[in-house]
Amino acid sequence: MNVLIIGSGGREYSIGRALKHDENVEKVYFSPGNGATDELGENLSITDFNALADFVEENGIDLTIVGPEAPLVEGIVDVFKARGLTIFGPTAKAAQLEGSKIFMKNFLARHNVPTARYIETSSIEEAYRFIETLEVPIVVKADGLCGGKGVIIAQSHEEAKKTAGEMLSGNAFGEAGTAIVIEEFLDGYELSVFAVCDGKDYVVLPAAQDHKRLLDNDEGPNTGGMGAYAPTPLVNDDIYQKLDERVIKPTLKGMEEEGMPFTGVLFIGVMVVKGEPIILEYNVRFGDPECEELMPLLKSPASDLFYKAATGDLKNATIEFHDKYAVGVVMASRDYPYKSSPPAEIIIDEIHHEELQENAHISFAGVSRGEDGKLYATGGRVLVCVGLGDSIKEARDRAYMLVGQVHFAGKQCRTDIAYQALQEA
Ligand code: AMP
Ligand code: GLY
Repeated sequence: MNVLIIGSGGREYSIGRALKHDENVEKVYFSPGNGATDELGENLSITDFNALADFVEENGIDLTIVGPEAPLVEGIVDVFKARGLTIFGPTAKAAQLEGSKIFMKNFLARHNVPTARYIETSSIEEAYRFIETLEVPIVVKADGLCGGKGVIIAQSHEEAKKTAGEMLSGNAFGEAGTAIVIEEFLDGYELSVFAVCDGKDYVVLPAAQDHKRLLDNDEGPNTGGMGAYAPTPLVNDDIYQKLDERVIKPTLKGMEEEGMPFTGVLFIGVMVVKGEPIILEYNVRFGDPECEELMPLLKSPASDLFYKAATGDLKNATIEFHDKYAVGVVMASRDYPYKSSPPAEIIIDEIHHEELQENAHISFAGVSRGEDGKLYATGGRVLVCVGLGDSIKEARDRAYMLVGQVHFAGKQCRTDIAYQALQEA
């Protein structure tokens, strides 16, 4: 089959890479892709959804996979479905689970899915009153999509009030912040759990853990994610079962009952507090960098997972994973996440070590190909070095060995990815 992947990050590269190794797949297209996805397939530069659907029809593309949230919230799936095309992702209505935090919190409350105590409001007086009832830290969230920046963890009541005021006035995030959620702070450890859904049935992928802060020991500012690993030993059967019974089943049933059956990948942001999984948020797409570790763990053909989910046929799929671990270390550019950095040529040493050749690889993200044919770091998160192994330590060591082979001016990465799992071991 021929597949089109929408997006340009390391997440999309890793999906393309999995499809490239899949004998059911002939050709992979990316729109827009990045400077390295052209090694896996063909990059397109079409943004209009109907023009993309035209291309899909004209070029015999059997399946479209949507990576990022923005086109989902904007209704790409609705456009494709109306034209009878097969696409992996939720409709715009179902994508509100990510597109509106108020929709998501109210949905969780309606279906008794455990989540932090909250209010949603557009009133500054109401915001102030609720803030007074909470202990610090206090979490203030803009309702709409803010590119991952719309959540502030305030360390004092004054800061929480100031943040709420700035959001509600439209000064902080424009329209996206004119309604807000205020909630209690949950103290625990965070997990990324992914359920690939076909509207009715679902497959839960090995649980992952992301590292959102820029610096080692979870210090520094929040980022899109500086590294991840899976499966994490921080999830035991009890937590998987609670997630299944209290979260995934009621969510999928609720979405179906409310007339928006969920197809695509449900990304469940979980905080485990004293052994109890509590939902922080839903996203309606794969996590980045979590996808870069999950794709190489997939033993079944990637086309099977995506195509069967997109066509409501997961009950006829047996999706298997390798009995291995994957660790991914993000290499970011000099000024990430504050501002863009000057382009820097990427040089990758030739890898002679057989162990590394077979058990480590790069998923490219913020890269462009220069007119000289060379790869340049041009984005914030430039690439992810992924190591695989029979233990987390082995996978981690291989990922960092690969990091050592990659050079560009100003490169930065965390040195402690997977530390929580290794502390446990
Ligand atoms: P969100 O976009 O809602 O996932 O929030 C971004 C990040 O903020 C999460 O990944 C958490 O690390 C943190 N966060 C959000 N809500 C809470 C909460 N209620 N308690 C503690 N941390 C939170
Ligand atoms: N890695 C977290 C995210 O993709 O939102």
